[in-house]
Amino acid sequence: MSSASSVYASLRSIGAYAPPKVLSNCDLETMVDTTDEWITKRTGIKERRIAAEDEFTSDMGAKAANKAIERAGIAKEEIDLVLCATVTPDYFNMPSTACIISDKLGIHNVQAFDISAACSGFVYLLSIAKAFIESGMKRNILIIGAEKFSSIVDYTDRSTCILFGDGAGAAIISATSNKSEAIIDIHASADGAYADFLVTPSPGSVHPASQSSLDEGLNFVQMKGNETFKLAVKTLTNDVIAILKKNSINTEDILHFVPHQANYRIIKAVGDALKMSEEQVVLTVGKYGNTSAASIPMAINEIYESGRLKKGDLMLLDTFGGGLTWASALLPFAGETIQH
Ligand code: ACO
Repeated sequence: MSSASSVYASLRSIGAYAPPKVLSNCDLETMVDTTDEWITKRTGIKERRIAAEDEFTSDMGAKAANKAIERAGIAKEEIDLVLCATVTPDYFNMPSTACIISDKLGIHNVQAFDISAACSGFVYLLSIAKAFIESGMKRNILIIGAEKFSSIVDYTDRSTCILFGDGAGAAIISATSNKSEAIIDIHASADGAYADFLVTPSPGSVHPASQSSLDEGLNFVQMKGNETFKLAVKTLTNDVIAILKKNSINTEDILHFVPHQANYRIIKAVGDALKMSEEQVVLTVGKYGNTSAASIPMAINEIYESGRLKKGDLMLLDTFGGGLTWASALLPFAGETIQH
């Protein structure tokens, strides 16, 4: 629904950054009791990127944001809100990573804040940006999903360390009066009854940082992988069916299905349930692993930079993560097609 003044929110540009250092399955074979074969078969992941020790979530976020701003063709001064989704902020929990990124970009005196919705963070941000724009409060919003997941991964725990990678993605969401450019719909939801499926126990008010919390490894991500897997397939499929039905859009109308890149088997199960063809489904999980809030914008950036994503193409985003949270979005790409 648009506001009475018919202002719509549109995805005007995309950008991403992946750190150069590659951690391959073969590297992991030397670190934990695992094999390239197991990881490939169970997850589809072959390698993931790892940020340098002195490269922080905000650094990656700022690099992705710079690309998105440049591609949107707007001046930094035109940005009136900066939002960052991350569960691996520079600091737990002040200042926000959005504030640090703003400073790194030279954006000052502009509202900035973080949200925490794990892997659903970027699509949650889309819903917030849409509401801010359609209410008339803002006109050009920079949204960023950025994660240095390696900072909360225990590289002696084979059940989690094989899954995650670092990276960032960003987009400019702008006001438009052109309805054909508008974000069509976003579903975002959560169920805290499953909060214990994905947890980083410390630091926080439950387990403030202490020697014992470190000794117990409470600063590392913990996941009930198998339970999360089953719920992810069911929830993602149902959510997509619901958003398509509500908007009277058929699966075959979707040019790019961009699911959260956590596990190839989850993507395949959802894609098959929706009868998506291989050409429709965007896959980056093999080369980046699960980059949490950065996963969806990095995947969109991938098809943008390859020239596959063209102005006006209809995308369906679908994501699921800690909280538990999930979200889907239907939107056209309102930016210019890349020129090679
Ligand atoms: N190498 C070899 N064996 C392993 C490894 C490994 N890296 N990890 C686990 N195993 C073993 C287990 O110990 C177990 O052995 P057992 O049968 O002897 O007990 C066996 O493999 C099977 O383990 P499962 O955990 O049941 O394996 P599963 O098929 O479920 O795959 C995985 C695990 C890949 C984690 C999967 O469950 C998954 O992808 N879950 C969903 C992740 C997700 O979507 N998360 C949400 C987003 S993340 C976010 O929000 C930040």
